[in-house]
Amino acid sequence: MAAPLFVGGRAAAMTAAVLATVAALLAPAAVAQLSTSFYSGSCASLESIVRSGMTSAVQQEPRMGASILRLFFHDCFVNGCDGSVLLDDSSTLTGEKNAGPNANSLRGYEVIDAIKSRVDAACPGTVSCADILAVAARDGVNLLGGPTWAVPLGRRDARTTTQAAANSNLPSPSSSAATLISSFASKGLDSRDMVALSGAHTIGAARCASFRSRIYNDTNINAGFATRRRQVCGPQSGATDGNLAPLDAFSSVRFDNGYYRNLLSRFGLLHSDQELFGSGGPVDSITQQYAGNGGAFSADFVTAMIKMGNISPLTGSSGEIRNNCRKPN
Ligand code: HEM
Ligand SMILES: *[C@@H]1O[C@H](CO)[C@@H](O)[C@H](O)[C@H]1NC(C)=O
Repeated sequence: MAAPLFVGGRAAAMTAAVLATVAALLAPAAVAQLSTSFYSGSCASLESIVRSGMTSAVQQEPRMGASILRLFFHDCFVNGCDGSVLLDDSSTLTGEKNAGPNANSLRGYEVIDAIKSRVDAACPGTVSCADILAVAARDGVNLLGGPTWAVPLGRRDARTTTQAAANSNLPSPSSSAATLISSFASKGLDSRDMVALSGAHTIGAARCASFRSRIYNDTNINAGFATRRRQVCGPQSGATDGNLAPLDAFSSVRFDNGYYRNLLSRFGLLHSDQELFGSGGPVDSITQQYAGNGGAFSADFVTAMIKMGNISPLTGSSGEIRNNCRKPN
């Protein structure tokens, strides 16, 4: 009697163990949780490699911190944070790079390529391009004087994407406040997240084509500011289309709350920027708060970046760890 009972007991214990293992394997996939310690066993040098790559890129050109931050935003808003924005067009794939909001505008791809090859030299085939971009964006912000934070990781890379997805998911600079709110809401981001994330425009630059109608046709703009910007940006599309102006007129390589103070004086460069203050809408008070309290902006920006970084990542066995960020394996 003892032996069958023992066997039965062991079988029951094994069944329980198998069930526990199955549950443990299924649970993370089911909730698709990213984790700040995802690579601590498999690629402990990831953070220091990304940091040094971003440090030299920003030393060479401070604007690159801004360009990489924008790359991450454009990745996350199009099919989630899955590295899809990094895919080059090919004979079998027309991707995001030449979509309207990205063509002749999005930049920094070679910085991500350089970091990826150093990461892969240390930890072959381990870290996704999507995660490298998330960490690089955080470092770009911090290297320009902004906050730092622990980035949740564990994203995998998309095998494909479409140009149409980029054209339909990225907000236009001619958007109203209501349109911006609903665009971000469709990604699970509330209006506070939207206003905080727009503070990314405290760094970097825009092309004349993006702010022409604002400086010639908007009425809610500081007159002297509009006059000065018209000197680099002619009224008709053509030769001046690519001319740049800083998104924050006073400190475009300093990550601070100057963006919001500019909006109080109607110095927003994009129509969509100025929509965050002055129309009497629900976001005016958030802009006022951030203009007066850099600490509140910083804290909310970090919260919103982590939320944005959580937009439908590929995890578990979905997607892949790309070898070359520009093409599927
Ligand atoms: C709220 C809706 C947004 C709109 C309509 C918008 C639109 C734009 C436009 C039109 C430009 C200039 C592109 C060019 O002329 O080449 C730009 C630049 C930029 N955007 Fe946004 N953006 C938005 C939100 C964001 C968010 C959420 C982030 C990041 C968290 C971000 C980060 C940046 C950065 C850093 C630049 C400067 C890039 C550089 O200098 O290379 N933007 N944005
Ligand atoms: C300003 O508005 C007028 C009238 O709608 C339009 O014809 C013109 O193209 C606009 N100019 C710019 C620079 O957007």
